[in-house]
Amino acid sequence: MPSDTFSTQLLDWQAQQGRKDLPWQKSATAYPVWISEIMLQQTQVNTVIPYFQRFMQRFPSVKSLAQAPLDDVLHLWSGLGYYARARNLHQTAQQVWTQHRGRFPNTLDGLTSLPGIGRSTAGAILSLGMNLRAPILDGNVKRVLCRIHGIDRWPGETETQKQLWQLAEALTPTHSFGRYNQAMMDLGALICTRTQPNCPRCPVQHVCQARQYHRTAELPIPKPTKQKPERQVYMLMLLRNQQVWLEKRTAKGIWGGLWSLPEAVSLPALKQLSQQWDVTLSKRQALTPIQHVFTHFKLHIKPYSVRLAAHAKWPSSLPEGRWYDLNCPPAIGLPAPIQILLNAVKK
Ligand code: ADE
Repeated sequence: MPSDTFSTQLLDWQAQQGRKDLPWQKSATAYPVWISEIMLQQTQVNTVIPYFQRFMQRFPSVKSLAQAPLDDVLHLWSGLGYYARARNLHQTAQQVWTQHRGRFPNTLDGLTSLPGIGRSTAGAILSLGMNLRAPILDGNVKRVLCRIHGIDRWPGETETQKQLWQLAEALTPTHSFGRYNQAMMDLGALICTRTQPNCPRCPVQHVCQARQYHRTAELPIPKPTKQKPERQVYMLMLLRNQQVWLEKRTAKGIWGGLWSLPEAVSLPALKQLSQQWDVTLSKRQALTPIQHVFTHFKLHIKPYSVRLAAHAKWPSSLPEGRWYDLNCPPAIGLPAPIQILLNAVKK
């Protein structure tokens, strides 16, 4: 099928069946498109919607985001995970504000030189936010292309990526760039789903190799499996009345810049840590462990809670910390597992 027939069929389908009421489509300029694309990188649309709405209310422009304290940005990001996204967002807003007079660059190179903006996100900003010709290649689009073209290799491989980008580029029409890219994403999200795709309702079923050869269940080829390494960490929940002691994590590494509990790599190390406050840990103070899965490893969190005596000794040197009032929670960035622990101790 010639590429213009392919895109025409997709555009017709998008006009009738595609998504047109997502909050970032209301005024699709570079700023809201960028914010939504970053949120949608690792997160489902339904989860993103309320976060996007709160974010746009608090930071309606590049300027407001650039001038906000990072803590406020992380606070609104709390629970979305992958916090490097929020730190990059803040840095990019500052660069756009100070180096580009508040306007996003309108080229692929200009956009991809900004923190956190890769080629696909740049393509989305250019096409959806500026109606310029640029392909995208997010997870949905990769799946659609792998099936239509019967691509027999894991899409994450460098060679496969190259092939997919070439296909995405070649299929992009000469007009309606934003709507075409939206159509590809919609097709992936609504019809060409990971499990049980609805092929009979697909506008391009007649050119689909996976459909023709009954291979929708096996394409795209999954990532070769590798067991995630597991780590454990012991955490100390120091309670004083209705308050919990939190420490600010350094900017680098997991949960960079967020507020968390004091931690140690082993129980003896945690006991030693707690002695700074003159408290002694015992098994009785163990809380229910929780697990958290990161991209590269699985973390087992073993929390212990202790109540400080009224006149407890205060350690002479501590990292930057603060009391978190359970009854009046401050607006700070918290990793999801820490929020779960705080909620649990409040009950
Ligand atoms: N995922 C990434 N970008 C999207 C968009 N603009 N609409 C829906 N889902 C998306």
